[in-house]
Amino acid sequence: MDRGANGEMDRDEQEIDRLLQELHRSGVQRDEQTQENSRKLRNITPSTGRFLELLIEEERPQRILELGTSNGYSTIWVGRAAAAVAATVDSVDQNVERHQEARQNLAAAGLSQCVRLHTQEIGEFLVQNQRCQYDMIFLDTDRKRYAEWWPLVRQLWTGKIIVCDNATSHPDEFQPLLSILEQDSWLDHGVLTVGRGLLLVRQRTEARPAGAFVSLGLPGQTGEV
Ligand SMILES: C[S@@+](CC[C@H](N)C(=O)[O-])C[C@H]1O[C@@H](n2cnc3c(N)ncnc32)[C@H](O)[C@@H]1O
Repeated sequence: MDRGANGEMDRDEQEIDRLLQELHRSGVQRDEQTQENSRKLRNITPSTGRFLELLIEEERPQRILELGTSNGYSTIWVGRAAAAVAATVDSVDQNVERHQEARQNLAAAGLSQCVRLHTQEIGEFLVQNQRCQYDMIFLDTDRKRYAEWWPLVRQLWTGKIIVCDNATSHPDEFQPLLSILEQDSWLDHGVLTVGRGLLLVRQRTEARPAGAFVSLGLPGQTGEV
């Protein structure tokens, strides 16, 4: 995180922190009062946001793809860290109203320059952008389609890091993707019990020898990282 010469957090940082706190508070309240699922914001938790921020600062991806923007709460966490490492962010969501809110929230955070919003169905985006390359992909969207989308996601990923939210809150929905990951000897994966559970995937520098796979699985299964 950017800090001033006296070790004080820059004013901009504090303003973004206040905006994130307000968006988290209003998001939780709005979701509690909303019956219809499609109208909920379903934002990541603040601890997940902070984890993503630290991960980006550490891994320094140059191109980041977020699948599932909603109103841009997670996009602000990702975008702020991206700005600090001179990375760019593409974020995709098909919900026009959510993207209007996201656009306003990103402008309020001063992050419009480093984030491009694509108001589009994700499968369609992945097909149309097969030639793009992303170092980091954050999936926080329709989990039932992760396995179907995986070949396209894999194609536009450089191998640095993939993060998927809700791995412990909805473990059953992750089984099809986990089965694919476990068969790929070029990949390592594990689940962190941060927020609603984060599945992390990274590419190995050497293929795993046959029979040497130790599944990190989901917490309560074969282990946890
Ligand atoms: C859990 S919310 C994303 C929350 C956001 N990452 C945050 O923390 O602020 C999931 C989003 O995925 C979007 N979505 C679901 N299926 C989609 C699809 N097939 N194509 C595009 N967007 C989709 C929804 O409109 C919704 O806004």
